[in-house]
Amino acid sequence: MRRRYYNFWASALLMAMSLAGGEPKKLIVFDTIECAIKSSAFSKVVCKLYSRLEFNALLTIGEKEFADKVLGVCEVQIYPRGQKKITRIKNLRLDFCQLKKHTEKRSVLGIYYQALRRAVVDFPKKCPFQKNTTYAVNRLHLGWQDVPQYLPESNFTFRGKIYVNDELALEVKLTGGFFEIRNDSVYRKPLLESA
Ligand SMILES: *[C@@H]1O[C@H](CO)[C@@H](O)[C@H](O)[C@H]1NC(C)=O
Ligand SMILES: *[C@@H]1O[C@H](CO)[C@@H](O)[C@H](O)[C@H]1NC(C)=O
Ligand SMILES: *[C@@H]1O[C@H](CO)[C@@H](O)[C@H](O)[C@H]1NC(C)=O
Repeated sequence: MRRRYYNFWASALLMAMSLAGGEPKKLIVFDTIECAIKSSAFSKVVCKLYSRLEFNALLTIGEKEFADKVLGVCEVQIYPRGQKKITRIKNLRLDFCQLKKHTEKRSVLGIYYQALRRAVVDFPKKCPFQKNTTYAVNRLHLGWQDVPQYLPESNFTFRGKIYVNDELALEVKLTGGFFEIRNDSVYRKPLLESA
């Protein structure tokens, strides 16, 4: 009996939440992305914003060696609006050889893994990444459901160092903000290709 009442209130609450769909939501918006190759592990890397909410990356592994160990070490600096304080989250370690394994959601790292899993195309289930092969990250984004809405509006800088076979191979820098948006259609619009 109690259980039934509980279910009723749980579903009423969910319904109320989904009816509130027109409310402003806080979203992660990207301003810039830059990728810099640091070793011959990659022969070519192209990173660009697809829209203000999504980015693409094409990563070509070099011709000499396959990539047996691919590890990202990331840092985020968060600048909350109207505050002098900076929050740094350091040493987030992403194992690109084990994307499928990490399924917890309640941490920053869990959110990154989830976003990556949605966006990667043809990544191997197990390492290595093959030589002379291009792997794609397609329209990587964080939805409003991914990021706790109680966090304050902020700007951020994300820096990732990607190590391949224990050597620094690529640096990624992303800047952007987290703020309330009522109508996201402008942000969703694909950016024009630059000539
Ligand atoms: C956040 O970024 C926006 C746009 O890039 C900028 O106008 C604003 O001044 C920044 N705010 C802070 C607190 O740095
Ligand atoms: C690498 O791939 C390119 C294009 O797919 C091909 O032209 C080239 O011969 C390949 N190199 C090696 C060493 O396999
Ligand atoms: C959102 O903005 C776009 C273009 O600015 C407009 O066409 C659309 O009707 C707006 N949607 C809502 C729900 O206000």
